[in-house]
Amino acid sequence: MEDTNSRVTIHMAASLDGFIARKDGRVDWMEISDEFVGGDAMDPEFVEAFLKTIDCYVMGSRTYETALNFEAKGLGWAYGDKPTFVLTSRKLPRTRDTVEFYSGDLAQFVNGRLRPRFRSIWFVGGGVLSAECLRLGLADEVRYSILPILIGDGIRFFEKLDRDVALHLAEVKAYQSGTVALRYEVRRKE
Ligand SMILES: NC(=O)c1ccc[n+]([C@@H]2O[C@H](COP(=O)([O-])OP(=O)(O)OC[C@H]3O[C@@H](n4cnc5c(N)ncnc54)[C@H](OP(=O)(O)O)[C@@H]3O)[C@@H](O)[C@H]2O)c1
Repeated sequence: MEDTNSRVTIHMAASLDGFIARKDGRVDWMEISDEFVGGDAMDPEFVEAFLKTIDCYVMGSRTYETALNFEAKGLGWAYGDKPTFVLTSRKLPRTRDTVEFYSGDLAQFVNGRLRPRFRSIWFVGGGVLSAECLRLGLADEVRYSILPILIGDGIRFFEKLDRDVALHLAEVKAYQSGTVALRYEVRRKE
């Protein structure tokens, strides 16, 4: 049964023109930094405390492969010791105990397995999985961090979304780095 206290969030960072990665998957452009005088500082203590409120992560296999590459380059694992669910139909390397693989019906997985166990469920990409999550009406919230850069082409925030999804703007924050963080609630059909 679905736990009504649970919350499914989709969060990604994107270029102003709506891409989360270049066509070949590179995210080098994410290192961009600007100086916005009126912006908030990104307080590391706040970020650490905030990350503690996330109960589990869900990601597509291509995002997982990017995370494995980052780790192999010595850039660390961004998801701490939180349970991390990877959607894939392939056999992929499992580098830590917190990683679990799943293949199949996403709605059944989220409503039947994740919602009863976890309160704050974070989908962290990529575009294919995020679109599937929205299309199936599984997301409660979309967090979109816009970086101060245009890259012209790439993988979209939501790949092949085939219907309108009405949103309610709940929060806007601008940071000194030039990133604007938007938080939207997904409007449920009346
Ligand atoms: N800017 C950001 O914040 C951000 C965040 C995340 C990712 N990214 C970037 O985005 C790129 C990856 O995004 P993407 O859209 O190409 O791919 P993705 O969403 O990460 O992964 C898609 C893959 O997940 C698997 N999958 C999805 N739904 C499934 C289901 N119900 N059952 C089984 N498997 C399922 C399929 O792979 P199989 O073939 O394995 O079955 C599918 O091809 C990477 O370059 C990454 O670096 C950027």
